[in-house]
Amino acid sequence: MKKIKYQLNKLREKILKYDYYYHTLDKPIVSDSEYDYVLKQLYDLEVKHKELITPDSPTQKIGSNLIDKFKKVTHFFPMLSLENTFDLHGYLKFENRIKKKNISSSVIDFCCELKIDGVAVSLIYEKGTLIRAATRGDGYFGENITENIKTIKSIPLKLKGINIPKRLEIKGEVFMLKSDFLKLNTQSFLNKKKYFSNPRNAAAGSLRQINSKITAERKLMFFCHGFNFFKKNKHFKTHYEMLCQCKSWGIPVNKEILICSNYLEVLNFYKKFEKNRLLFDFDIDGIVIKINSLYLQKKLGANNKAPRWAIAFKYLPKKQISQLKDVKFEVGRTGVITPVAYFSPVYISGVFIRKASLYNKNEINKLDLHFNDYILIERSGDVIPKITNIIKTKRLKNAKKVLFPINCPMCNSELLSNQDNKITRCLAGLICNAQKKKLFYHFFSKNALNANGVGPKVINKLMQKKIVSNLIDFFYIKENQLQSLENIGKKKSRKIIQIIFTSKKTTLNRLIYALGIFSVGEVIADKLSHYFNDINHLMNASKEELELIDGIGHVVSSNIFDYFSISKNRKLVNQLTKILHIIPYNQNTQINSIFNKNIVITGIFKKYSRNELKEILVNLGACISNRVTKNTELLIFGERFGNKFIQADKLKIKMINEKELNSLLKSLIS
Ligand code: IVH
Repeated sequence: MKKIKYQLNKLREKILKYDYYYHTLDKPIVSDSEYDYVLKQLYDLEVKHKELITPDSPTQKIGSNLIDKFKKVTHFFPMLSLENTFDLHGYLKFENRIKKKNISSSVIDFCCELKIDGVAVSLIYEKGTLIRAATRGDGYFGENITENIKTIKSIPLKLKGINIPKRLEIKGEVFMLKSDFLKLNTQSFLNKKKYFSNPRNAAAGSLRQINSKITAERKLMFFCHGFNFFKKNKHFKTHYEMLCQCKSWGIPVNKEILICSNYLEVLNFYKKFEKNRLLFDFDIDGIVIKINSLYLQKKLGANNKAPRWAIAFKYLPKKQISQLKDVKFEVGRTGVITPVAYFSPVYISGVFIRKASLYNKNEINKLDLHFNDYILIERSGDVIPKITNIIKTKRLKNAKKVLFPINCPMCNSELLSNQDNKITRCLAGLICNAQKKKLFYHFFSKNALNANGVGPKVINKLMQKKIVSNLIDFFYIKENQLQSLENIGKKKSRKIIQIIFTSKKTTLNRLIYALGIFSVGEVIADKLSHYFNDINHLMNASKEELELIDGIGHVVSSNIFDYFSISKNRKLVNQLTKILHIIPYNQNTQINSIFNKNIVITGIFKKYSRNELKEILVNLGACISNRVTKNTELLIFGERFGNKFIQADKLKIKMINEKELNSLLKSLIS
């Protein structure tokens, strides 16, 4: 219990601090999603320990941003907030709660809308004329911003059409287009004025200008998402009907609205805009789902914080704040040093992220990174984690600057950087254990010798036990040596020996690639094997000759030449040529689509039995497997194919039918 109390206090303190920076100083220190996330943590913990809820807990307030600049107004109807969920489970709980109330036996319709990331305002119309506009404030008292609201072109000063009630409250969101926000910030930057961290802050700042001329310059927009009647309404039965009516009175309503009657439809709506939301010129941070029937809305009512008839289904944040714990300098296969930042895990776009590459010296200097810094993390292109910023105001006193090492963290050799500091390398080559280990991984990897089964785990163990200290050692490993390793029994050791044996038969381009020469990837290796057709010719080539090959310039030719100038490397290649069975370029291109490929067969074939086909393919160097995995490279399917076809399709594995197989075999054999 003590621990829970401590956790609750910590979360509350955190939120109060965020509130202070946001509301009082107008300088948010965390993103909105981070704020919501922490608030949700507190809320969930309080739900589990109701006895520990305190009246002053942030979950019991709506949040206030009252300052003295504007006259205060009392809201006619409290401006509440919304219950939040970040996942379907939370949404289903909301739906079940409603159904449990048993307020209706028929299907309940929900009105789904976009959750506009703006500033909530209340507009009061009397006999169709706008007479008052106010901010939300603390939900009960707001600020009178009528003059500023009147400058927003899309908000009608007078409603048009029929059925206009004597008095009506319109609720909605004032926001700024992303494109206008960018223009505004560029201008502010040029004029050395304060600039805003996001369109919502820009909209809020613009609305709360004493001088409404400034508000007028800011091009604010408005979407209506709610209303209140002062007298019993007879005309409208649903939220949707009323939104349509608002539209015909001239009030802007966003067009993306969908009436859903089950959770799958709601989920589709959520997913559709999760993907497309970046295409809008305004920010949305989720969708809002509301019971469509106004009668049911009224029956369900609200608690002191939010209505019971609506919920916000929010998108997970794409940016998160974390704290830098460590920076490790990793040594790559070719000696390139890559700094990697390790930080407290953060949840972004569905995954937990703990580390991000810092790329090079320049990046560390650009960020001015210090240990324990609070850092902003994004997933660029929604995939690769990246540190995009540092929150310098939160830097600890005496924080130590992250410095790029002068010596290799693995072998202590002096590091060398290129002119623009983008690449720093340890040139110790195979003397450096880190490079050696990675070369071993690379040598046996899928696109090199393709010894599937001789991966990092086995290699690490073999190195630890000193069974291998160079590449040649791998070809002389004995079964009993493998069996001395943890988790490797008789069967597995035999399999590994067999795999190494099979990998001996390889193509020239694979071997060149496998050597791991700096800047020689698969494409260059292919060009080299095509041009020289023999490893000895390549070994003795001059830089000039290498540069004759299309696509090989000064840098690559020097790297290749330097590699073969080292006697240890020449010795290694000579030893390898004796051990391996190397197929030259002119013989291997035709059988590339079969040779050394992991192939799966499914279905019935007209021309061959399964066993016949297997034999043909194995003779052409294929590895036949019974299961489709991510390592499968080709699926050959006949008639009445099975589940393997579906699995391969899901994994986007190349597939050919019997006709295509026949023409392939014909081209290989003729
Ligand atoms: S309905 C009782 N619908 O989100 C409050 N709100 O986080 C009913 N918001 O304060 C609000 N888009 O300012 C509703 N389509 C939408 C919305 C929306 C944005 C804002 C609103 C609310 C906040 C809650």
